[in-house]
Amino acid sequence: MKKQTKAIRIQTKKSSNREHSVPLYLTSSFAFESAEQGKALFEETEEGNIYSRFSNPNVTEFVEKVCMLENAEDGIATGTGMAAVFASMAGLLKSGDHIVACRALFGSAHQIITQILSKWGITHTYVDATATEAEWEEAIKANPTTGTPAARMVYLETPSNPGLELVDLTMLARLKAKYHFILNVDNCFATPILQTPIDLGADLSIHSATKFMDGQGRVLGGIVVGSKELIQPIRFFARHTGPSLSPFNAWVLSKSLETLELRMERHCRNAQQLAEALEALPDVDRVLYPFLPSHPQYELAKQQMSAGGAIVTIELAGGFERVNAFFDALQIPTLSSNLGDSRTIVTNPNTTTHAKLKPEEKAALGITPGLIRISVGLESIDDLIEDFTQAIEKSADVVAADVVAADVVTADVVKENVA
Ligand SMILES: Cc1ncc(COP(=O)(O)O)c(C=O)c1O
Repeated sequence: MKKQTKAIRIQTKKSSNREHSVPLYLTSSFAFESAEQGKALFEETEEGNIYSRFSNPNVTEFVEKVCMLENAEDGIATGTGMAAVFASMAGLLKSGDHIVACRALFGSAHQIITQILSKWGITHTYVDATATEAEWEEAIKANPTTGTPAARMVYLETPSNPGLELVDLTMLARLKAKYHFILNVDNCFATPILQTPIDLGADLSIHSATKFMDGQGRVLGGIVVGSKELIQPIRFFARHTGPSLSPFNAWVLSKSLETLELRMERHCRNAQQLAEALEALPDVDRVLYPFLPSHPQYELAKQQMSAGGAIVTIELAGGFERVNAFFDALQIPTLSSNLGDSRTIVTNPNTTTHAKLKPEEKAALGITPGLIRISVGLESIDDLIEDFTQAIEKSADVVAADVVAADVVTADVVKENVA
């Protein structure tokens, strides 16, 4: 049976009411039929629900579908994507361990690694997404000079947020065979429809289900999937620290997975066409999209993804003033820091999602004042292209004004210097 059929047909066993759509199991706990059953459930000699912090039918259904889509054995769902990221690290790492992470990370993942895990003696090294195999290996193996131990975990996003840099998963799988670290991949931007990291050698695949899995900006959720062996300690961590996904959110997310493939097809087609249209405009300094031949890692994108995704990142000349004018001129997109919605969203990472990074960190990630992340929605592509084109034209005056202002300043400086 094809995955698309399973994404629709996997469903919690029907109740005696013979419902067609799965009911919402809005219950914090489950009743035991006898003291004997309660004992057996806690001893795990019998499988079943006890308490919704541990498991719940709606959550189990959602996990089962994601495991199927990701070709994973087991998984654990969490209340947010960040809870999944944190649980995957806190459940598997201990004091003295070392993480090697890709520098291009979502801001909160960066804060977990640098500000939280560091308090518990877990150290890190950052590597550029585009680093060579030798550079990754250098960071991964033990370094007697600095006293850095060999990596216990390699953590990355591919494609990254917002720079759309890719990491070669097959190359890291080769290094994993040599150094035996846990390869932990945030697959949020690609979704399991475009990329299945576990098939390429990863151990864990993580999602902010808040994004494309929900796809309509309604609920928060997260999930981490992988082998039974690795999920077991993560489940222990989650069961006792409580970052559980709510049954309601799981119900919404499981329903949304029925249409994920269909939505991703349209998201990707729209994003590809918008990226091509923007690249043809002389006024756009940079267009980043993994499936544009101009993307520096186009070949790798074609190897490990089946389409380019829904995120297009562009750079407009004129800095923040231009971005402001451009956003004012746009008629259709929403200005929001979220992404992965049926509605197109634009954001300026420099002043929003990545505002807390230090200037040198922003510089290393190419986050400039004029950078715009576009989460391309499901609207008519003709309408989107028309709207983006008119807003770029309308906001062009800001650049012109900036250039005039810059010329005046330059002229003044020249005059002063001459004087
Ligand atoms: C790549 C990536 N990973 C993780 C997260 C965190 O997800 P959540 O907001 O569901 O905690 C985000 C959020 O934007 C993200 O873009």
